[in-house]
Amino acid sequence: MVTDCFSPESLDRERIVSLLEADDDTASLLKKAAGRCRDIHRGPKVYLRGLVEYSNICVKDCLYCGLRCSNKDVHRYELDDAKVLEEVGFAYRSGYGSVVIQSGERTGRRFTSAVSALVRRIKEISDGRLGITLSCGEQSAEVYRKWFEAGAHRYLLRIESSRRSLYSMIHPQDGMHSYDRRIECLHMLRDAGYKVGTGVMIGLPFQTAEDLADDLLFFRDMDVDMVGMGPYLEHDRTPLYSYRNLIPSPERRLELSLRMVALLRLLMPHINIAATTAMQVLHPYGREMAVFAGANVMMPNMTDPSNRGNYQIYNNKPGLNDDAEITRSKVIENLTVHGIEIGWNEWGDSDRKDKSVR
Ligand code: 5AD
Ligand code: SF4
Repeated sequence: MVTDCFSPESLDRERIVSLLEADDDTASLLKKAAGRCRDIHRGPKVYLRGLVEYSNICVKDCLYCGLRCSNKDVHRYELDDAKVLEEVGFAYRSGYGSVVIQSGERTGRRFTSAVSALVRRIKEISDGRLGITLSCGEQSAEVYRKWFEAGAHRYLLRIESSRRSLYSMIHPQDGMHSYDRRIECLHMLRDAGYKVGTGVMIGLPFQTAEDLADDLLFFRDMDVDMVGMGPYLEHDRTPLYSYRNLIPSPERRLELSLRMVALLRLLMPHINIAATTAMQVLHPYGREMAVFAGANVMMPNMTDPSNRGNYQIYNNKPGLNDDAEITRSKVIENLTVHGIEIGWNEWGDSDRKDKSVR
């Protein structure tokens, strides 16, 4: 059986590297095996999380991201509560099952209390039915606890690269961007009770296949519940843009991302793996390809067209002129034409304690 050729026990660092570099025929077997693995351990459904881009204000200055605080071309915004609740209401009526509240990293009591209040309201207006994921950067253990008590139960905080030296290369050395602090936050999130999600960018300048293999082993060793990863994409107003001649071609970055999804599914059959929007930038059906390679979560954007342009972490963000309704119909249509089932009104969390197979 093909699956046996890709058993988790056989996927050590060396084998992972060789599969990331393998020919297309081998990769196609790998992706098929991962799709089957998802079907067996998680079922065929894709779960939807409606994405609220709550605020693009950010205190960080990540060298790859269009929202970095040094980028003065961005019009900064924060949605008011009514707008957030309108988008959340749309998610609820649409059967999305969960929402993700995402923002740049922000500190201060006003912001952290506003998020707590919003989480409480979301729980109220949905009778506790909507799952709530937060993705609002590094915070104190106390803030993470408060948000959890308010009702958020998942948190996304990408490690961006698990290789410490690469992390230092893509972040400024200004005392604000610490690899150790990031890891500490992931532990704090776990201690606070969240389902913890992390992830990396794929195809960064200076990144090797060995780094990517180590990223996968990092997810396994951290025993995370969710992973969102996708290709690194250029943004012309960022320092990393000047290294664009060092990155793999768009086709290669997409292919590497799909292989990463497939390998992760085989290593951690029970976790949630996102088919990310960044994959859609490189191919109109990039996300569906990720689903066939083992992903099982998608995050349809619900932001108004008036603000989508203000939340461009990379160039060529898709659907800039679409509203939540159009995004919804496109997502459903794309999944449906590919014969992919949707988990309507479901959270789709994995309950299994030990999520990896070793
Ligand atoms: N290309 C791809 N992903 C990016 N992110 C930020 N900038 C880029 C980029 N240029 C991702 C990071 C971050 C998430 C919010 O977006 O992984 O954690
Ligand atoms: Fe801010 Fe996140 Fe962009 Fe870094 S990646 S600049 S923390 S929005």
